[in-house]
Amino acid sequence: MCGIVAYVGPKEAYPVILKGLKRLEYRGYDSSGVALLDKELKIYKKKGKVAELEESLVGKDLHAHIGIGHTRWATHGEPNDRNAHPHLSASGKLAMIHNGIIENYAQLKQELLKKGYEFKSDTDTEVLLNFIDDIRENNQCSLEEAVRIALKRVVGAYVIIIVDQESPDTLIAARKGSPLVIGIGKDEHFLASDASPIIEYTKEVVYVNDYELAIIKPDELVLKNLGNEKLTPFVQKLDIELAAIEKGGYEHFMLKEIFEQPHTIYDCLRGRLDLSNGQVKMAGVQQNIEQLKNANRIIMVACGTSWHAGLVAEYIFEELCRIPVEVEYASEFRYRNPVIHPGDVIVAISQSGETADTLVAIEKAKEQGAFIFGVLNVVGSSIARASHSGAYTHAGPEIGVASTKAFTAQLAVLTMIALKLAKEKGTIDAARYNNLLHELHAIPEKVEVVLQQKDKIQAIAAKYSNANDFLYLGRGYNFPVALEGALKTKEISYIHAEGYPAAEMKHGPIALVDETLPVVFVATKDAYHEKIVSNIQEIKARKGKVLAVITEGDEIISQLSDDIMVVPEADEIVAPMLNVIPMQLLAYYIGVSKGLDVDKPRNLAKSVTVE
Ligand code: AGP
Ligand code: GLU
Repeated sequence: MCGIVAYVGPKEAYPVILKGLKRLEYRGYDSSGVALLDKELKIYKKKGKVAELEESLVGKDLHAHIGIGHTRWATHGEPNDRNAHPHLSASGKLAMIHNGIIENYAQLKQELLKKGYEFKSDTDTEVLLNFIDDIRENNQCSLEEAVRIALKRVVGAYVIIIVDQESPDTLIAARKGSPLVIGIGKDEHFLASDASPIIEYTKEVVYVNDYELAIIKPDELVLKNLGNEKLTPFVQKLDIELAAIEKGGYEHFMLKEIFEQPHTIYDCLRGRLDLSNGQVKMAGVQQNIEQLKNANRIIMVACGTSWHAGLVAEYIFEELCRIPVEVEYASEFRYRNPVIHPGDVIVAISQSGETADTLVAIEKAKEQGAFIFGVLNVVGSSIARASHSGAYTHAGPEIGVASTKAFTAQLAVLTMIALKLAKEKGTIDAARYNNLLHELHAIPEKVEVVLQQKDKIQAIAAKYSNANDFLYLGRGYNFPVALEGALKTKEISYIHAEGYPAAEMKHGPIALVDETLPVVFVATKDAYHEKIVSNIQEIKARKGKVLAVITEGDEIISQLSDDIMVVPEADEIVAPMLNVIPMQLLAYYIGVSKGLDVDKPRNLAKSVTVE
């Protein structure tokens, strides 16, 4: 997983690549590098963030009209200057960047070692590069041909881009399993992992598909399959604006994205929630309505935060649609030979649409005849293309590594789908249905109200930022919210945190409780309210510190708690969209008070395109 950028055309390549790498840094940030080809091939690489590379290049001759750049998230070999990309082939003629993993690299490496090759890095990438170079030497063929032959032997996932000293106006790129977008300008081309480095130059893009190879010159883009047949590039128009991916005055992307939620939820509902006619309009659902409403079972497949959205959806779908739901970690599901019946529907939930575990899981389920419905944020992403149908969350690009606005948008979409199916199936009465449509519609405004407590939550965060552990508890719809709160805390503040169903606490975690343990209760008014009051008493009796997310006016819990975060009253089905916001802010402010890089927490990456 990494960010890749390349340029060929009349502009200076380096500034275009550098800017692009900064925009893509969220994808991986342990080291970065560029290769620039003018008269000769120059490669510069540096451990650390892109800014460190930039600093190290001040004063260097960076003139070139063709170049490639990479920001790495190491899979093979530790993050250091040597393992950073681009890599140079043994012949010194080719430089290559790679996103992904070459699974059979050890075998290929053995073959090359026998031939006397020496390696300068520990990466799988350098092996593939020399393998390509070796084929070119031996077969006396073009680079394009050598790439094609090599990729037929490769097991794994990749986007590769190669620049060749012998063809100073040509880039060769290929993809399988990792993302690649090509922007088409006037006599110039831009290549990147996503559109963010491209949109300021052109809105015309081609999404490269798996097993495709592109030969790119300033004024020509040739797309082929691995059988050397020419393909017609499908040129699409980007509909995102540059401003949407910049910080917009906030200190961090994460804070900006938390504050965007009234708009993103609204955007997600807009055009779909038709209050005057009492309808939910979703083309992807409507086109497959029979399949969906008659599903024997729905299996939600996802990872991390998206998996938490799946858990909330399990409660909603079972309650409203009376369809059995299972929620699976994609990484487990893909390997354990799951039982899938013809009437099963897989709902794949993913912000990035590139998560390798989720992608492979749905491909396996597809092979067994399942119908795949994607709930995705990134248009044209790999999972979007692998799904039979779906609904986009329209939350806009999420740059902060910790998912925030994508989660609430996923909940909004999943709730709308459940409502539509429940109505079709007749499992919901008219009054409840109409009430829930209005409840959903009111969410963006209520989110605004929650966000007004920012300063108060910042003060609470300061109070607890030295804690070693946090416990997050909730029941029913609020249990997955507690899990999400714990995940945010771990990711952003590096504090150990666990999420549990509040009632399960007494079966083990209660042993952790003492006067040093902050326990966050997601305890808004719902069917379990009295029960959770008892759980809070149990913590207080053991001197734990109680921080509670409560419904406005809840005096009982307010009096029992050390600190409270208040949300407006809402139906329990839509409440998770409100209740998660104090969790996001709490984790954010603890991270900031500890001086951590909340947008790019250590060891993480925004889209996890390795298994
Ligand atoms: C969330 O804050 C995470 N960084 C992570 O758990 C994420 O939700 C997970 O990797 C799934 O990503 P996806 O939604 O892009 O598939
Ligand atoms: N497997 C390659 C490496 O470890 C590429 C990783 C990436 O996608 O950043 O260098």
